[in-house]
Amino acid sequence: MVVAIDGPAGSGKSTIAKRAAEALGFHYLDTGAMYRAIAVQARAQGVALDNAAALRAIAETDPIEFGYTDGDVLPSRVFIAGTEVTDAIRTPEIDVAVSPVSALREVREALVAQQRMLAEGAADEGIGYVVEGRDIGTVVFPDAAVKVFLTASAEERARRRAAQNLERGLEVDYEATLADIVRRDEYDSQRELSPLRPADDALIVDSTIMTIEYVTNLIVEQVEQVRSA
Ligand code: DC
Repeated sequence: MVVAIDGPAGSGKSTIAKRAAEALGFHYLDTGAMYRAIAVQARAQGVALDNAAALRAIAETDPIEFGYTDGDVLPSRVFIAGTEVTDAIRTPEIDVAVSPVSALREVREALVAQQRMLAEGAADEGIGYVVEGRDIGTVVFPDAAVKVFLTASAEERARRRAAQNLERGLEVDYEATLADIVRRDEYDSQRELSPLRPADDALIVDSTIMTIEYVTNLIVEQVEQVRSA
């Protein structure tokens, strides 16, 4: 069973997707981390962010893998071609570089194929998958058993993102964070390929004033409903 969690930057997707995966005993896949890893690899190799052929080569040949930190049940580390990029994918520079990378058909095709393979592998073992991204319910898994589209006001999302960066020891500028969120929302929703939008059958949840526990329970309940149907 696939649980698709889509939504804009800072909507709480990652926190909630992880909590739901833990509560359900499902695997967890952060597809944004995959697009980010391609952007980091492009930067490391001096590949221009609009060089579709070179980016396709990276996406098709450099394996992206997820790893665990001791004691954790969900993966939190990211590797591309064997190099750890867990911290490198979360810098403000990559926040910007990842947009053009994720807008390329060549990159999306390669990564969507990998995302489907991962979920199929888990399904073969009878394990569910919580998958978070932008196009999971619309394009990657249109038949997902549960689809949730998480939103929150841009101001609340900027506040959350700034708090996260502060925790990571990064310098924080709230106005710049808000501007980046608004820019990415526009870019992600207006791009031609797989734009950010809720699937017609997604449950739309505005998390601005909801707690993480409340939204997590909502998702767990949806899964239970599907199971008992
Ligand atoms: O969720 P995130 O902020 O880590 O995602 C990073 C970028 O990747 C974001 O700008 C949108 C893009 N993305 C995408 O196009 N499709 C996905 N399924 C996941 C992320």
